[in-house]
Amino acid sequence: MAVESSAGDPRAEQRRAAAERAVELVCDGMVLGFGTGRAAGHALEALAQRMPQGLRVQGVPSSSATEARARALGLPLTTLDEHPRLDLTIDGADEVDPQRRLLKGGGGALLREKVLAAASDRLVIVVERAKLVPRLGTTRGVPVEVLPFAWAACARLIRRIGGTPVLRRGTGGTPSVTDNANWVLDCEFPGTDLLDPASLDARLRAIPGILETGLFWSFDATVVVGEPTGVRTWGPE
Ligand code: A5P
Repeated sequence: MAVESSAGDPRAEQRRAAAERAVELVCDGMVLGFGTGRAAGHALEALAQRMPQGLRVQGVPSSSATEARARALGLPLTTLDEHPRLDLTIDGADEVDPQRRLLKGGGGALLREKVLAAASDRLVIVVERAKLVPRLGTTRGVPVEVLPFAWAACARLIRRIGGTPVLRRGTGGTPSVTDNANWVLDCEFPGTDLLDPASLDARLRAIPGILETGLFWSFDATVVVGEPTGVRTWGPE
């Protein structure tokens, strides 16, 4: 996971301040989900700073990058095999709509992130102000994780339901590979489709070969927002 310096970057400073607030929700003895991305990285750092004060927690990482960062910070790791139920997951998001529904997967970790969110009693999302949007899909397409064997067939069927899929590629032009050895299609949809993310999610997941979408519409997340004027907590306390 890239380590973000927040000095002089207002959005990064908002992310860091929100992450520090989110980590205040962590209690001694909790088993956590560790999200992926810059906001989640700030949360790991804030958590590591609490460890010398006697905080005992362990976490399940949502990506190999997060696992490496947590190890580097000395945070104890565990697995879903050992802890199929988590107390709390702290993660970032690409977008949050007015009903606190989320678009995630910009970093390609959507499948494991959704598994951790579903395993958690509580999901805490850390974002900066600019991530709040009137409807999902405002700033980017919907990430969809697909089986490489099936990607072209999935893309055709996504077009049939009105989407415009683009295969995510890394440097060098080869497909980006997720930690699960799959590929990602970033899919634009007409704005009206994104007003009902549950329906779009169901239509996408009905296509064989699609393994997960970045539409996180069913979680009653607590959203911690870094604003230019301070940090605001939105949703369940
Ligand atoms: C990772 O796959 C994503 O879901 C991230 O949580 C999301 O892209 C937010 O990342 P940042 O905190 O880096 O913006």
